[in-house]
Amino acid sequence: MDIPWWRDAVVYEIYVRSFADASGDGVGDLPGIRSRLPYLAGLGVDAIWLTPFYPSPMADGGYDVADYRGVDPLFGTLADFDALVADAHEHGLRVIVDIVPNHSSARHPWFQAALAGAPGGPERERYVFRDGGDLPPNNWQSTFSGPAWTRLPDGQWYLHLFAPEQPDFNWFSPEVHAEFLDVLRFWLDRGVDGFRIDVAMGLYKQEGLPDTPPLDQAFKAESPIWGRPEVHEVYREWRKVLDSYPDERMAVGEVWTDSAEDLARYVRPDELHQSFNFAWLEAPWSPTAFRKVIDDTLGTVPSPTWVLSNHDVVRHRTRYGEADPGTGLARANAALLTMLALPGSAYLYQGEELGLPEVKDLPPEARQDPIFARSQGTLPGRDGCRVPLPWSGDAPPYGFSPDGARPWLPQPADWAGITADRQDRDPASTLAFYRRALAARRALRGTLPDQITWLDSPEGALFFTRGPLTCALNCGPTPIPLPPHTDLLLSSTPPPTSAPTHAHAPGTGTGTGTGTGTSLGTTSGTGDTLPPDTAVWLRTP
Ligand code: NOJ
Repeated sequence: MDIPWWRDAVVYEIYVRSFADASGDGVGDLPGIRSRLPYLAGLGVDAIWLTPFYPSPMADGGYDVADYRGVDPLFGTLADFDALVADAHEHGLRVIVDIVPNHSSARHPWFQAALAGAPGGPERERYVFRDGGDLPPNNWQSTFSGPAWTRLPDGQWYLHLFAPEQPDFNWFSPEVHAEFLDVLRFWLDRGVDGFRIDVAMGLYKQEGLPDTPPLDQAFKAESPIWGRPEVHEVYREWRKVLDSYPDERMAVGEVWTDSAEDLARYVRPDELHQSFNFAWLEAPWSPTAFRKVIDDTLGTVPSPTWVLSNHDVVRHRTRYGEADPGTGLARANAALLTMLALPGSAYLYQGEELGLPEVKDLPPEARQDPIFARSQGTLPGRDGCRVPLPWSGDAPPYGFSPDGARPWLPQPADWAGITADRQDRDPASTLAFYRRALAARRALRGTLPDQITWLDSPEGALFFTRGPLTCALNCGPTPIPLPPHTDLLLSSTPPPTSAPTHAHAPGTGTGTGTGTGTSLGTTSGTGDTLPPDTAVWLRTP
């Protein structure tokens, strides 16, 4: 049966500033991405998602958009974008771009007009302005720390759920609706295959702007800020536009919510195609937690997705093994293999295929995430997962920029052993494991049922089948017997006999830790047991 491409696609997130820098200014750019398309095609992903590359003062890494229809000179030109899309398609890769509808940059012409306009005037209708005295109109806090309101010299306040440089749009304004429909068409006409919708549960704020509970309780359906019922009308409008184009254009929403039921509301048949399943990313290393997320998702969300890392969270390798990098990497690869066995699509974050850890020791003066400054340095912010990729060579910039250039965030001195180039030549590397896993998944495409069946498993483990495929994950501390199978297809742990071929980088571990076998007991080195922190794919008997 023919299923739409996105339903089981593996999508690779490119954080544009940190992927590859062709121009030599230390910042990743569109020509840099273009030059690495063969790498991505070779990795075996189906699509790339580009984070914002639009003209922007970069107060929030480009999530402060000053012009929704252009390319910031930092990243290239519209011609570079067109060339990238054309080349990506040539390589068999779809292209998803980010759209940021909750807020613009304060440098956006509309906000500049609003600032120049009078309180109560039509220019201020497109944003959320309110009168107030010395105190903000309500108690809302910015997601980036501090109040969500900034006061103008004329006494009015404007709302910004993120940085003050990111004023929130007023989605009750018909002009805002019309503008975004036009922006969608602009990029669809240029050939994009889909959109990733930033803060998709934002947009509308409850009329009257009532006070909210503290932010940690506010990511709820009943919040005056998040997941207001009106937002679904927006996605119904957008879906009609997407459906009016050929070739299955799609949209995936960034929806942070506590419940699968709420998530499912965004992917009703006439709304978005997908929403990120952050519950998977938020689950601790625990079979019970994993099983609950899997059950909740498959039982509730019509077109499931799975994601372990992105540019906003601590890299999962580090989340799973703060104290012991080796454990973190083994678990990361086991989680990946498990998620690739599940029905639905998978979103990868650049660098996870190299086993990159979070960089925790960036010096304060290097940190650029507004969260760091707005919290007076009490929160590290997200720079640690945004460090430019190591491609090759023995020292920074590791082929990210031409030699001599300084990447916008410093790279660790001990990444020589985990560059893409080094791992490319090492069959026991994480990169080699990712390639095998993605190739195996592609080979099974279309042959697997949409549901899984749980098998009995020992404590600490999860076993499930999906037709001909059985996946076994051991989260526990001791080896366990494997479930029934005929062959071992793939393992997240290398055979014990295959020694790492590159140096073990202190403090971060290396990119090793993965292997595969074709039959049990020979290449797995595990006999009929599954080691701790390991997942395998088996052929169902
Ligand atoms: C979510 C994006 O992923 C994040 O990087 C950004 O800071 C916020 N939305 C605000 O746009």
